[in-house]
Amino acid sequence: MGRIALVGFMGSGKSTVGAQLAEKLDYTFVDLDTFIENRTQMSIPHIFATGGEAHFRQCEQEALNALGNQSRGVVLATGGGVVTQAPSRALLKEAWQAVYLRATPETILARVLQDATERPLLQDEHPDVRIRTLMAQRQNWYEEVADVTIEVDEFSVEMIVQYIVDWLDARFAER
Ligand code: S3P
Repeated sequence: MGRIALVGFMGSGKSTVGAQLAEKLDYTFVDLDTFIENRTQMSIPHIFATGGEAHFRQCEQEALNALGNQSRGVVLATGGGVVTQAPSRALLKEAWQAVYLRATPETILARVLQDATERPLLQDEHPDVRIRTLMAQRQNWYEEVADVTIEVDEFSVEMIVQYIVDWLDARFAER
């Protein structure tokens, strides 16, 4: 049994892919944002509104730590900003097989601008500029934690899931 963390920007498909991957592997699916909401009994927008991003990052780091200590056989969909914190990057590298779902800014823009109101970091006069800036800032951090990177733009969820299953098979066969 293992721990697989999906990383990537908002809208890269982490939750959708994660849920299907978990089903296929017979692992438990955990969405890190939902896990935080359950632990804190607060919605993500509420955490941002009351404690700011710094407080949210602290909650995120603690949640990641708790999951890494306790869980086996888990597929985790992380939040897009988890890689901004060095301790969270270290946790991902130590305790998880990290799969980076990489999408172009155009793909991300098309997907997330539809429901930008639910995303605290996109409450901006120019969410498109904000998305491009955040993506550019985070690119290297996603690469840093990733054990494998998948370009998701052209692929269906099923294809991405199968790619990850094949990659895991090959990786465990090496051992
Ligand atoms: C964030 C992404 C969100 C959520 C929070 C912050 C980010 O998760 O954790 O709003 O900093 O990119 P998703 O990537 O699941 O949308």
